[in-house]
Amino acid sequence: MDVAKARSQYPILTGPQPFIYADNAGGSQVPKTVVSRMVDYLLNTNVQVGADYVPSKVATRRVMEEGPTAAKILMNAASADEIVLGASSTMNVENLAQGLTGDIKAGDEIIITGEHEANGGPWKRLATRVGATTILWPHRPLHSANPYAVALVLDDLLPLITARTRLVAFTSCSNILGSVVPVADIVPAVRAKAKEMGAPKVEVCVDAVAYAPHKKVDVRAWDVDYCVFSCYKIYGAHVSAMYVRSDALKNSVSSVVHHFLKVPEVAYKIMPGGPGYESVYAITGVIPYLLSLTPDGEKLLEETGLLQDATADSMPLLTNPALPAALDTSWAAIAAHDHGLLAPLLAFLTHPDQWARGVRIAGDGGAFNGQSGDEDRTVGAAFKPHVAGRAPTVSFVMVESSNGKPQLGSKQIVEYFDKKGGIGIRYGHFYAFTLVSKIAPGGDPADGVVRISLVHYNTVAEVERIIEVLKEVLA
Ligand SMILES: Cc1ncc(COP(=O)(O)O)c(C=O)c1O
Repeated sequence: MDVAKARSQYPILTGPQPFIYADNAGGSQVPKTVVSRMVDYLLNTNVQVGADYVPSKVATRRVMEEGPTAAKILMNAASADEIVLGASSTMNVENLAQGLTGDIKAGDEIIITGEHEANGGPWKRLATRVGATTILWPHRPLHSANPYAVALVLDDLLPLITARTRLVAFTSCSNILGSVVPVADIVPAVRAKAKEMGAPKVEVCVDAVAYAPHKKVDVRAWDVDYCVFSCYKIYGAHVSAMYVRSDALKNSVSSVVHHFLKVPEVAYKIMPGGPGYESVYAITGVIPYLLSLTPDGEKLLEETGLLQDATADSMPLLTNPALPAALDTSWAAIAAHDHGLLAPLLAFLTHPDQWARGVRIAGDGGAFNGQSGDEDRTVGAAFKPHVAGRAPTVSFVMVESSNGKPQLGSKQIVEYFDKKGGIGIRYGHFYAFTLVSKIAPGGDPADGVVRISLVHYNTVAEVERIIEVLKEVLA
């Protein structure tokens, strides 16, 4: 992957005063190719959709066809009719829970995690509305030496499944821990256990918001019923895409749109009020951007006319049979680059010197953990080590040092970076309130964890600079 070329899309990273943006799990940068689509939409087709005049026909195609088709491809859904587009993932899951209110009954059980509240709160509120119960799938410590190195482990989920289980809602990647949760292993195990227990209907809802910037989301391979991600974290604009399996649209979800709108059994039935149209259309720019990261992808862009004209009709590309393989190549390039960023950062943070200073990785330090290697894992057989598949989102907390240095809080560390300038990192609970309440030293979720979150347009040199500043603040 040509990182310099990727970075040329982002003036904030490369301008006269380059900024090291390491807060990507909060929202990514938007490449020029995506911005140009938004500008083109607003300047040339910002009219009402669904009318018969010519600009409206173009706008309708862009918003109703091209944007959902691009999201369908990014999800690997079977049909664009299964794609809900909404203002945010939080809003999309809330609307989904509203739509499921008639189908989830008193006594049903909903399993949730302590990860981002977007895939927790809506289910808790639904449970309260109908008299169902939520049950927490807790995180488990991976290392006896580090209680902050926690993960979701399948062995802990399966005993929670009973004849009353109706929905299992979890994340495919933690926005705090960076750990990838093996959805393709979990879903069949959940379905088999539910069948054994006699549960009549179990659905699965996956929050892929922190996963989608790094890896290919594949709702069909995962066999999930609902899946959501936020386009503004995957190099798009502020809009969210949610997959709803067509079977669920027919048999589980009721319409939440105006009563007089006779919507068929498609995603639109849980889209009360539309998202920003230019943001929906901008999703069509994300795919060309991802393709531009590899020579294979560039070739396809050239063949479909998008290399020559970044705002050209995207349908020839979106319907091209070579697209899935070219996108896979881009995801592989991103994964390799991500790993290259992760390795030095984890190696530094888990070094015995940092351990003595009181640094504890929140999540999986894996083979890089200077204190306790993989052999110390206390997890069950179904658990796969995360580091190779881990996202470069690294959080840590500070405990008392064993070398007499003062204990630092997350806030103090981030304040040091902010004073220094030129680097953006954050601290707090990042809305994974339940998880962070459990792992924050002193039980203070507001101080929470320090989070450094990187994506493919970050460089190893940037990571080295972050490490230099960490060395200063930890000295
Ligand atoms: C893992 C995860 N899930 C859900 C969300 C919520 O996304 P949105 O801001 O689109 O509601 C976030 C946002 O930070 C997140 O990181």
